[in-house]
Amino acid sequence: MGGAVWADSLAMSVVETGGLVVLGVESSCDEMAAAVVRSGGSGSAGVEIVASVVEGQEEVHRPYGGVVPELASRDHLRTVSAVAEAALAQAKLSPGELDGIAVTVGPGLLGSLLVGLSFAKALAYRHGLPCVGVHHLAGHLAAAELAEPTLRPPYVGLVVSGGHTALYRIGDGEPRILGETRDDAVGEAFDKVAKLLGLPYPGGPAVAEAALEGAPDSTPLPRPMLDQEGLDFSYSGLKTAVSLAVQAREPLTPKARADLAASFQAAATDVLVEKSRRALAREGLGQLAVVGGVAANRRLRDRMAAAAAEDGFHAVFPPNALCTDNAAMIAAAGARLLARGERHGLELTAWSRVPLAERPWARS
Ligand code: KG4
Ligand code: ZN
Repeated sequence: MGGAVWADSLAMSVVETGGLVVLGVESSCDEMAAAVVRSGGSGSAGVEIVASVVEGQEEVHRPYGGVVPELASRDHLRTVSAVAEAALAQAKLSPGELDGIAVTVGPGLLGSLLVGLSFAKALAYRHGLPCVGVHHLAGHLAAAELAEPTLRPPYVGLVVSGGHTALYRIGDGEPRILGETRDDAVGEAFDKVAKLLGLPYPGGPAVAEAALEGAPDSTPLPRPMLDQEGLDFSYSGLKTAVSLAVQAREPLTPKARADLAASFQAAATDVLVEKSRRALAREGLGQLAVVGGVAANRRLRDRMAAAAAEDGFHAVFPPNALCTDNAAMIAAAGARLLARGERHGLELTAWSRVPLAERPWARS
């Protein structure tokens, strides 16, 4: 189980879910993950992460410089049972002792999603357990409430991952989208810039590390969409600007590489901070949750914290292990659905693209 992350140290509390023990399964991209959460009993607010296992696939995809969907789903098939068994063993539970199973149904790579979904449905059927489908981004947002028990709607959610860059208003009903990327996601831009700079996959952490040695103001780069009033983003132009800067400096010295990484990281994160500030002001809200893999970025965290102190809002960042893909966030979001009586049958299927507010599988 190389690369597995055990999350005993992540036990923390949250949301009311009504006393349930839930297994979460997440396989939407290149992480196979399973986790067990235990919600507080009735009256007590709190969800505790009992076990969390994440099996990455860095070695599988590194030779290709990015995720190869066919290889991702094949590797999920290889690890799904062992990862779920490891989470249950860590929780010292047998499947029959669970109250339900929550599984990511989309968005994501279809083949990858189907592995986790088929496994979850089979386990639920075998043990007569209720099963609910969870939207991947609802899971990311639940991570913020897991990390910060005081975070309650309404708040602004900034979702920044390899597939998404969007601002939502999270209220009591379905989330409302305030703005989203018109082209690449910010994590995708980090991954593509890593490739341009000759840095290894996965790109986000590699760019962040290279940037530590560079000067963020060494290369002037655009801050896309900042001159426009709306809350949409765009990252493909920034990536092209980096590509041109690389061509002008080739062959790259380590110093030039670090400077370009730092300049790109500054441009990419400045836009996220500024648009979040505008979203909070426009919605008249004082709480922001930043979730998804890019929320692990140190500069984004520091700059957002500085903006929060200046503007007087509260910014919540989950710990890194809850920012990148994991199953504790899926189990936590699923526990909430199960507590309010949602049940999805064996006809539950996977969705490669589906807006957060729609959840078509939840309609009867
Ligand atoms: O949420 P996530 O694990 O998977 C998706 O749902 O996409 O996010 C993965 C993305 C990748 O693009 C990765 O490069 C980026 O998050 N990422 C980072 C950092 N850690 C992960 N980007 C910038 N800085 C980081 N420290
Ligand atoms: Zn994700």
